[in-house]
Amino acid sequence: MDNRPIGMFDSGVGGITVFKEVIETMPNESMIYIGDTASFPYGSKSKETIIDLTKRRIETLIQKDVKLIVIACGTATSQALEEVQKMFDIPIIGIIKPTIKYLKKNNIKDIGIVATSGTIRSNGWEKEIMKEIPDAKVQNKACPLLAPMAEEGWTENEIAKLSVHEYMKDIKNIEALVLGCTHYPLFKASFLEEVGEDTKVINTGEMVSLAVKEYIEENNIKNDCKVKPTYSIYLTDTECNFLNVAKQLIKDEEIIKQIKKI
Ligand code: DGL
Repeated sequence: MDNRPIGMFDSGVGGITVFKEVIETMPNESMIYIGDTASFPYGSKSKETIIDLTKRRIETLIQKDVKLIVIACGTATSQALEEVQKMFDIPIIGIIKPTIKYLKKNNIKDIGIVATSGTIRSNGWEKEIMKEIPDAKVQNKACPLLAPMAEEGWTENEIAKLSVHEYMKDIKNIEALVLGCTHYPLFKASFLEEVGEDTKVINTGEMVSLAVKEYIEENNIKNDCKVKPTYSIYLTDTECNFLNVAKQLIKDEEIIKQIKKI
């Protein structure tokens, strides 16, 4: 048993899509989330910068005494996970491997990946997919406008629909579309409209929450439930629209009210 919280971070509000899934899957676990809004967006930055930002967010979470860290960000997972796993002793889970586990288990081979420019440039998804599913066919598309639009709360308007339509126009004949940036589940309705109902649209947060549950159970580090779970959300800068978008995902007013600057 281990009553310490699970730590999690992203560049902004996107990782809240993962936070939400983890709370739903493990309602007894406490959580600490950092939205690195001062450094948003991660998607357009160099690999060196992403490694540095990831290292610093992990150091902050370790100082807050978390038991496990989730990188709730596709950009940081694809460019920095391997490096930070070598630097720190704490278990660190990213969003790519748990999702590929699902694709493999379901024998999915024609795969579309939409993600930030940094993630697509790193080829992080395709490299890992080919290791696990060597005969997979992967179609990649960088969608650099979507994460900034999500931070702005523009996820369901006409501009959101048109942008998703434009980004999706070359992706054809896929069995599953991976939303490889954690901001993109906010556009799920538009992506579903593009691919049609026979194609599975994957929210990586769902896969990550199952991986975290499995890790916690296997390693016997569950919260013993003697103390009520607590949720803390910190931002590195508060001049942003984080609160308004987070409210769409987290219905618990108490969690929203205590969001503060780190
Ligand atoms: N939500 C992040 C990701 O999954 C980062 C988006 C960004 O900051 O550009 O890639």
